[in-house]
Amino acid sequence: MDDQPAIWAEGLTKRFGHVRALDGVDLELATGRLLGLLGPNGAGKTTAVRILTTLLRPDAGHARVAGFDLRKERDLVRRHVGLSGQFAAVDSYLSGRENLVMVGRLTGMTRRAAHARADELLGRFGLGEVAGRQARTYSGGMRRRLDLAASVVGAPPVLFLDEPTTGLDPHGRLELWAQLEELTGQGTSVLLTTQYLEEADRLAHDIVVIDRGSVIAEGTPEQLKRQLGGDRLELRTTPGPQAQQLANVLASLGSGPPMLDAAAGRLVLPVSDDPSLLPRLVALMADAGLSVSDLSLRRLTLDDVFLALTGRPTTPDRSRDRGVQSDDFAVSPTTKGAR
Ligand SMILES: Nc1ncnc2c1ncn2[C@@H]1O[C@H](COP(=O)(O)OP(=O)(O)OP(=O)(O)O)[C@@H](O)[C@H]1O
Ligand SMILES: [Mg+2]
Repeated sequence: MDDQPAIWAEGLTKRFGHVRALDGVDLELATGRLLGLLGPNGAGKTTAVRILTTLLRPDAGHARVAGFDLRKERDLVRRHVGLSGQFAAVDSYLSGRENLVMVGRLTGMTRRAAHARADELLGRFGLGEVAGRQARTYSGGMRRRLDLAASVVGAPPVLFLDEPTTGLDPHGRLELWAQLEELTGQGTSVLLTTQYLEEADRLAHDIVVIDRGSVIAEGTPEQLKRQLGGDRLELRTTPGPQAQQLANVLASLGSGPPMLDAAAGRLVLPVSDDPSLLPRLVALMADAGLSVSDLSLRRLTLDDVFLALTGRPTTPDRSRDRGVQSDDFAVSPTTKGAR
């Protein structure tokens, strides 16, 4: 199975009543690589993960996972995948060590082997000191690490991680990223879902963006960023004609069309990574006699990806679990579906 992809899926389709959770999704993950499945709330990420790990049957489509046919070889697929879920499968009333030993025993290890594997993983995931404590006393970050450790007890060649860092603080996120890099470094193939472009950019070899059950973009992080025009320059000025004038004056700096919300005095310009950008910006504004009240240069976010690809922001309910305002990105694009 060496030259077979870790995951190959074609036309995956799943409906729940009227909702098309997946509407003909194709995916491919090469062995030893990490695929980032990126999308907002309700895009279909968890549905795809549940189907590919045999927890849910697709209405249509075919897939091979770890070299086995999803429909005809469900048990073999199940034995060769690990899953760390959005809803952690850890038993709160067992200790960290008991959780891992239990998983080992369930995968058919002897008592001795299960204990040895549990201790190895507790050390590796920084849980040695809390190994004897009930998991319900763990912090969110510890639970996430325990859940991840549980998913790799049987050293599965293909690992599914459904939003593994949602709810983690920046430090916890960095730690988990390092552990994932170690796993892929050892040859594990990983499909990771996330709502954070930054995370996919940092970890993934390839990214697939899904929205409402369909793939809307795919490629390496570099290809995707190039397609979307790189970083974002964000400016605020007096609402009204001056905002429009600013957009006209600065358009030549952009790697794509400017997005202007004239009523709010907010201008967003896709820009490529170029050291001469800010000097040119200052010169253009001085020549035109324009000023801004706020200016920032920032990396692309999932919101930018959506705005550029679909002409609309990500669904408002997404903002709730990130603790930001729902008008987070209330800019009306001047062109739709810019590519
Ligand atoms: N068991 C179910 N019954 C009914 N509808 C469902 C079920 N599971 C998922 N859905 C619907 O399918 C769509 C896709 O859901 P899914 O959980 O796959 O999204 P997601 O991308 O994982 O979102 P999130 O980022 O919020 O986890 C949503 O509209 C959801 O409401
Ligand atoms: Mg989900």
